[in-house]
Amino acid sequence: MASPTTPTFTTRPLDADTWKDFAALVEDNNGIWGGCWCMGFHPEGLGQDSTAEGNRQAKREHVRKGTAHQILVFDGGDCVGWCQYGAPAELPNIKNPKAYDRELTELPDWRIGCVFTGKGHRREGVARAAVGGALAAIKDAGGGLVEAYPEQVAGRKPQQGAYFHTGPEDLFAEFGFERDRQIAKWRWVMRRHVRP
Ligand SMILES: CC(C)(COP(=O)(O)OP(=O)(O)OC[C@H]1O[C@@H](n2cnc3c(N)ncnc32)[C@H](O)[C@@H]1OP(=O)(O)O)[C@@H](O)C(=O)NCCC(=O)NCCS
Repeated sequence: MASPTTPTFTTRPLDADTWKDFAALVEDNNGIWGGCWCMGFHPEGLGQDSTAEGNRQAKREHVRKGTAHQILVFDGGDCVGWCQYGAPAELPNIKNPKAYDRELTELPDWRIGCVFTGKGHRREGVARAAVGGALAAIKDAGGGLVEAYPEQVAGRKPQQGAYFHTGPEDLFAEFGFERDRQIAKWRWVMRRHVRP
């Protein structure tokens, strides 16, 4: 039996049924960065004129249309985190686009976008469950080349995790991702193939 310090998480996709759980987590965390609603990687991005309510509606519309792919992590009935993924056309707005394009030879089949764990649940393995769930969903969808854009951890002073929007490198290394190229002082393109 699991002890209170080793919660067992379940995962579910973000869809019409789980929207309310996702929304509750976002609202409990001040809209995420004051109201981005995890819209940064989507085609609309986060413009100067974007508002929390506009971002919420845009995200909801993506969920309605099936153009948002996100694995939610649940601790019992509570949504406590997620991992966003999708094809490059679905998630075109990665960080450091110029540096990314400079040495681009082939676009991946899939991108991992934002990773998020709610306050009070960090360092319990939520992001690990979320990334594992996203890779399982990618496998079910046919697999292919997957890219992540995580933050380097080694050689850097300890980070609280607040700025690890795209997750820590060590987590992706755990899942077999390997460095492809550096696109910012602390950010790497990491890749792995997922078999169908
Ligand atoms: C980065 C983040 C997703 C990590 O989530 P988490 O659930 O705490 O991570 P996990 O417990 O699954 O950690 C898995 C591994 O990742 C690494 N890791 C996680 N947080 C780390 C940190 N702050 N520093 C260094 N490594 C870290 C570790 O290797 C860890 O394994 P360990 O705990 O056995 O050492 C979380 O800190 C977060 O949500 N930060 C805010 C990011 C954000 O704002 N995203 C929204 C963008 S829309």
